[in-house]
Amino acid sequence: MTRAHRSLALGSLVVALATACGPRVPIPASARLGAEYPFPDEERRIQEVVDLAKETMKRDYPAGTPAKRDAHIKAHGCVRADVTVRDDVPAELRHGVFAAPGPYRAWIRYSNGLPKPPEDNGDNLRGMAIKLTGVAGPKLMTEEVRTQDFLLVNYPVFIVADPTDYVEFARAVSEDSPLGYFLGWNPFDWKIRDLRALLDAVGQETPSLLAASYFSEVPYRMGEGQAAKFAAKPCASVAATMPDDPSPSYLREDLVKRLAAEPACFELGVQLQKDAVAMPVEDPTIEWDEEVSPFVPVATIEIPAQKFDSPAQDAFCENLSFSPWHASPELQPLGAINRARRVIYDEISKVRHGQNAVKRTEPTGFESF
Ligand code: HEM
Repeated sequence: MTRAHRSLALGSLVVALATACGPRVPIPASARLGAEYPFPDEERRIQEVVDLAKETMKRDYPAGTPAKRDAHIKAHGCVRADVTVRDDVPAELRHGVFAAPGPYRAWIRYSNGLPKPPEDNGDNLRGMAIKLTGVAGPKLMTEEVRTQDFLLVNYPVFIVADPTDYVEFARAVSEDSPLGYFLGWNPFDWKIRDLRALLDAVGQETPSLLAASYFSEVPYRMGEGQAAKFAAKPCASVAATMPDDPSPSYLREDLVKRLAAEPACFELGVQLQKDAVAMPVEDPTIEWDEEVSPFVPVATIEIPAQKFDSPAQDAFCENLSFSPWHASPELQPLGAINRARRVIYDEISKVRHGQNAVKRTEPTGFESF
């Protein structure tokens, strides 16, 4: 190899790594706050994501066997909560359920994000899906009338930029070679930043579900011409250390024990998009800088002391359907990943309810077990 060739190869590698470390989705310099920029060919890619999820469902839950979710399969439990919108919400954040102060009865489902490992004590993501009930006004999906969902995970960014990448990632995962997605044969396509995010996200210790912070990762409309992300963070720091010898379901056991003894509390916050390029709507692999735009508390989530681990309540939990599109138009999910989720969550929930012969209904918040 000549010196010219060597420097060309080195230059290519540097460019490849720089590309891998910066935003990948082209964001127009003229991007407007709160605006979406759909991808060419997006519909076809979204359909591929749906088809892939349906294939996985068929493979994992053959006809005649109980069907579970396609993601966030393992629930730690569903707990009752009271969500109270604060009376000091800043004017620019008073949209949808945050428009006026007041209480909502809610259900929260805690889950592991990845199907493997099945034990809690392993690399994984943790989900906190919140469903507010008794929410008046029009909704984006016609079926449910009075719920507003917030789907959160214990990491601030998603590791896949768009539906095209999602299909590749999901294929690599189903072939048991997720690394192949991040580090293929072509260094120009390496996704170093996303790989680092994934390892960082799944490597976090979770001594207690009540001590973690959870993020929407992807943005939502916050009234006309504004976008925002959501986060739920403990109201005060929660003392929790990893058990010496964690059992396969230590997170549920910890939740049972803590909520038997005392209530828990989270603050729901909203982070406004302040810069349409540095805080993009279409690329959820980019973290929105909390120093530029901190999460502003808009509601308090109180989880009363309770017993939640009965078989009847677990069955109810299993049959709930969360979706970011269970939302009012003022809080519409934004960006390509969210546009894909509109179809997927509905289709997969229909598949599993159909196979289990269970009617799909939205809860009222007054269920008791
Ligand atoms: C294209 C990207 C995504 C796909 C294909 C996808 C797919 C799914 C599916 C199929 C379910 C189960 C739905 C059901 O059966 O009811 C689910 C649940 C969930 N997803 Fe996603 N998801 C995506 C992105 C995200 C993102 C960005 C988040 C960030 C917060 C997220 C958080 C969750 C949570 C917390 C649940 C559990 C909901 C529950 O407890 O029932 N997902 N996802």
